[in-house]
Amino acid sequence: SNRYCCVMLGSGGVGKSALSIQYVQGVFVDVYDPTIMDSLLRMDTIEGRNITMTVVDTAGQDDYIDQTTPYIRMADVCVFVYSVTDATSIVHVSTMFDHALKARQGKGPMPFLVVGNKSDLQEHRQITVDQGRRLAVTLAGRMRLSGEEVLAVTQSPLFMETSAKHRDDAVLLFRSAVMTINKV
Ligand code: GTP
Ligand code: MG
Repeated sequence: SNRYCCVMLGSGGVGKSALSIQYVQGVFVDVYDPTIMDSLLRMDTIEGRNITMTVVDTAGQDDYIDQTTPYIRMADVCVFVYSVTDATSIVHVSTMFDHALKARQGKGPMPFLVVGNKSDLQEHRQITVDQGRRLAVTLAGRMRLSGEEVLAVTQSPLFMETSAKHRDDAVLLFRSAVMTINKV
């Protein structure tokens, strides 16, 4: 099929909405307006194929974690976002990942991408590129332990850093997400 659904997961304020809106509308949203649940649509061309991408943008607040379950189940790919300026947000990725694995039990491999956002805020950086990359590899290992196969993990774009201020980063993120689906 040429229809893909991508679910955005991660702590409040890490930039899930800013990345989604940058991809779909091509603008950077400066104000912080906490999300309850949003769904965005964009036609795109990836490796010469026309696709329709639905981005499900979830709430970062912990109280909403259970509400994400049906979206995680129907998604083709899960994008786990933290902020490189917020050390607790990378810990939350690990928690969300376990929640997502449980939510998808019996559905087979879960294509995923780990994203360290706000890379433009260098002076506030708390998480290194290496820490992000290592987390992505650790999570892939955890998925394998849970009994799901992870094929071609090393070739998959499992991890990237982004700035939602940069359109190219947002576009690359969602195109990488689609490539991840095809590789798992
Ligand atoms: P919830 O909806 O509460 O889960 O938060 P969220 O993850 O959707 O965060 P959101 O996209 O609303 O961004 C929160 C704040 O961070 C906003 O003020 C954004 O403008 C800002 N922001 C998001 N991404 C970036 C980024 O890459 N760089 C900078 N400098 N600011 C960012
Ligand atoms: Mg949001």
